[in-house]
Amino acid sequence: MNILGIETSCDETAAAVVVDGRDVRSNVVATSLQEHGRFGGIIPEIASRRQIEGIQPVVSSALSRAKVTLKDLDAIAVTKSPGLVGSLLVGLSFARALARACRKPLIEIDHIQAHAYSGFLNFPGHSASGEPSLPAVALVVSGGHSSVFYIKDFMHFQLLGRTRDDAAGEAFDKVARILELGYPGGPAIDRLAQKAGRSEIRFSQAPLKGTFDFSFSGVKTAVLYYTRDHRTLPHFSAAKVAYAFQESVVEALTEKAFQACRVKKVSHLLVGGGVAANSALRRRLKEMSRRLGIAVHIPPLPLCLDNAAMIAGLAYHLKPNVGH
Ligand code: KG4
Ligand code: ZN
Repeated sequence: MNILGIETSCDETAAAVVVDGRDVRSNVVATSLQEHGRFGGIIPEIASRRQIEGIQPVVSSALSRAKVTLKDLDAIAVTKSPGLVGSLLVGLSFARALARACRKPLIEIDHIQAHAYSGFLNFPGHSASGEPSLPAVALVVSGGHSSVFYIKDFMHFQLLGRTRDDAAGEAFDKVARILELGYPGGPAIDRLAQKAGRSEIRFSQAPLKGTFDFSFSGVKTAVLYYTRDHRTLPHFSAAKVAYAFQESVVEALTEKAFQACRVKKVSHLLVGGGVAANSALRRRLKEMSRRLGIAVHIPPLPLCLDNAAMIAGLAYHLKPNVGH
C-alpha cells in the first residue's frame, strides 16, 4: 500500500511516500528555519508563506523520487494538529483538495503520535536496532511537546505524562538564547556540551514523584541565574553550563521513560521528536537499554526532526476517512 504523507505543522514543508507503513521510498523536507534565526524563534507568518510556495514542488518531488504517480497512491495522509494554525491549514487544504481530485482516501494524523511512530520506519542507510513491537511506551520530545505515552495499538495512545511548563526542545532553545548561541538552540547546545565533555556544575530537577510529568522551567531559570552571576568571572564556561543543563534534561527524560516501561511492564521504548536527535540523550538511552533489557528504538536523525514519512507511516494503521 503506497501512502503519500504531507506535513506542514511548523516551519517545514514535507512530503514522503511510505510503503506498507514501513519502507520510506522518499522523504523530502524544505524548511524556512534560516529565515527565522534572526528573530530568535519561528515567525508563523513567514512559515506559512513559505509553505504555500513550497507545497506543490515538495509533493511532486516526493512522488518522483519514489518513482510513483498520483495514480499509484492508495491514500493521502496529512498532519491535522497540533501546530501553527496557518501552517497546518496549508497542508490540510492541499491534501484535502488533492484527495478529492484524485478520489483517494484522506487520513488525518496527530503530529505527536506520528513522532512516536518514527521508530517503526525503515530508512535507507539506517540499521535499526531490532524490530519494535506493541505494546510499547513512547517518549516524544520536541520543540512544543514532551510526552510519555502507553501505546496498546495504533488506535489507542494513552497519555501517561507530559511537561507541566516548557517542552524539552523549548528549554534547549531558551537556554541557548541565555548563552547567546542562536536559534534553534538544541543542536548548538549539543555541540557546545560535547566540547566541555564534563562539568562540575549541577542543575537539579524537581523530581515530580508519583507522576510521569516533566518540568523544565526550573532548570532553565537556574541556568539564567547562574549565567547572570558568573558570566563576567574568569572561570565562566558556557560549554560547561550547556553540558550541565543537557545532563539535567537527559536525566529527567530517561528516568521517566524507563519508569513508565517498568510500570506498564513493556519491553519496547519508542523515542521521537527533535530532541531525540540529541547525542547525549541517544547515548544515555542506549546505555539504560543495555542495563535494563528494554529495547529502545530511536529513529535516524532525519526522522527525529519534523518529516512526512512518520505521517504516512502511522496512517497505514488507521482507518481511511473516505470522502473528505
Ligand atoms: O520535532 P521538531 O523538529 O519540531 C517540533 O515538532 O517542535 O523539534 C524541534 C526541537 C527544537 O526545539 C530544537 O532545538 C530541538 O528539537 N532539537 C534538539 C536537537 N536538534 C533539534 N534538541 C537537543 N539536541 C539536538 N541535537
Ligand atoms: Zn515535531
